[in-house]
Amino acid sequence: MAGTSGCSLLGRTPQARLLASTAPLPKPFTVPLPTPMVAKPSRTDGHSDYYDLTQRAADLEILPGLRTRIWGYDGQFPGPTIEARSGRRAVVQVSNGLDAPTVTHLHGGRTPPESDGYPTDLVQPNTRRGYEFPLDQRAATLWYHDHRMDYTGPQVWRGLAGFFLVRDAEEEALPLPTGERDIPLMICDRSFAEDGSMPYPGSSDRPGAREAFMGGVLGDVILVNGAPWPELRVERARYRFRLLNGSNARVYELSLSPGGTIVRIGSDGGLLEAPRAAQRIRLAPAERADVIIDFSAYRIGDRVELGNLADEGPQGKVMRFAVDRDARDDSSIPKVLSQIERLDPAKAKVTRDFEFAGGSMHGGTGWLINGKPFDPRRMDARPRLGDTEIWRFTSDVTHPVHLHLAHFQVLSVNGERPAGPPEWKDTVELRDAQLVEVITRFTGYRGRYVMHCHNLEHEDMAMMANFEVV
Ligand code: C2O
Ligand code: CU
Repeated sequence: MAGTSGCSLLGRTPQARLLASTAPLPKPFTVPLPTPMVAKPSRTDGHSDYYDLTQRAADLEILPGLRTRIWGYDGQFPGPTIEARSGRRAVVQVSNGLDAPTVTHLHGGRTPPESDGYPTDLVQPNTRRGYEFPLDQRAATLWYHDHRMDYTGPQVWRGLAGFFLVRDAEEEALPLPTGERDIPLMICDRSFAEDGSMPYPGSSDRPGAREAFMGGVLGDVILVNGAPWPELRVERARYRFRLLNGSNARVYELSLSPGGTIVRIGSDGGLLEAPRAAQRIRLAPAERADVIIDFSAYRIGDRVELGNLADEGPQGKVMRFAVDRDARDDSSIPKVLSQIERLDPAKAKVTRDFEFAGGSMHGGTGWLINGKPFDPRRMDARPRLGDTEIWRFTSDVTHPVHLHLAHFQVLSVNGERPAGPPEWKDTVELRDAQLVEVITRFTGYRGRYVMHCHNLEHEDMAMMANFEVV
């Protein structure tokens, strides 16, 4: 089954391509790690917190001594972190101060359709829109980013993305690291021209410029929270890092060198049932991993690198931790973190198949689901509110598959059950010629949502489908 889609309909399946920088690049680990600023609500009432964000261009110093024009929420890249609470509504007023339409989507949010950032619900320049997030969901590391149809790749590349953390009482009752030792890390790759700008290949008018990169745009500079290969000074204590792969197309395989254990405590959809020690953590675009690293295992003066085993050379480096002082640490990692309901395949009412593969569309080539390019007017699935369904994905090349609204559990990968208890995911990496089966229950809201590949170039080249919860 999985093997049948291994050969693409395009004679040659386009691979993601590296865009080389011509700007002088800094030596790794010479720039300090920035932490995105935390958004302050403009007001709050009994049930809601209100935020105002303005999308605008700004010139930031990303590479030492150079100016980079970015598009950012409040002119920042990453955008301000929204720290929200489960069960409290967040109302985010987004004003578009750019010269292009935008759409904002809360990735991992369980959001009514009007506020979910459907790809054609455009916010035109010099207008604004209020997005309402009920946050009727458990604590988790979410993120918000642009979602404009056909233009998500360039608009996220320019900087339209930020963290959105949901906290809750269950998580706060645990002795996990908090405060200064709870740090979001947005990892993404970019390339820089000589003048410091971050050109995106598709933005040139040269015909075919975009098609050449339809397999995905890879940058050669790894940014963490918008800084190139940064360094963070740490105490000899436990830290919680909320890892997010915010890249357009790059997949990371993160590990510590010279050696060390990363303890995974959370996934896209919040806490795992129990901590899981790992030597490496693979993250496809849009996937998150909440992890604990215990620096008391190191000595003062040690330098611990977070590397990327999926690549060699500069892209094999991500950031570095400099262990520089002793500190008191009252945190610990409990053996039980949470309880996760196991969705039961026997209760599934419907099984649907979706094939993710390259193919021809409108006379050119694109990325298709079940042979069809995205069309906002076509409904591809109509799950019923409250129903449990099994969705089966097959691939030609790697596609990180993301569902809006419905968090899911992976049932099998090429027929094999994943190791360990289930976890809640909203994005799953479908690797070359794989069959991945997930199970989900459609709850919360009726209406129209999308499912798509989160390689942003694939997404812009039409690898998206609609579903309507009825
Ligand atoms: Cu992270 Cu539909 O997107
Ligand atoms: Cu894809």
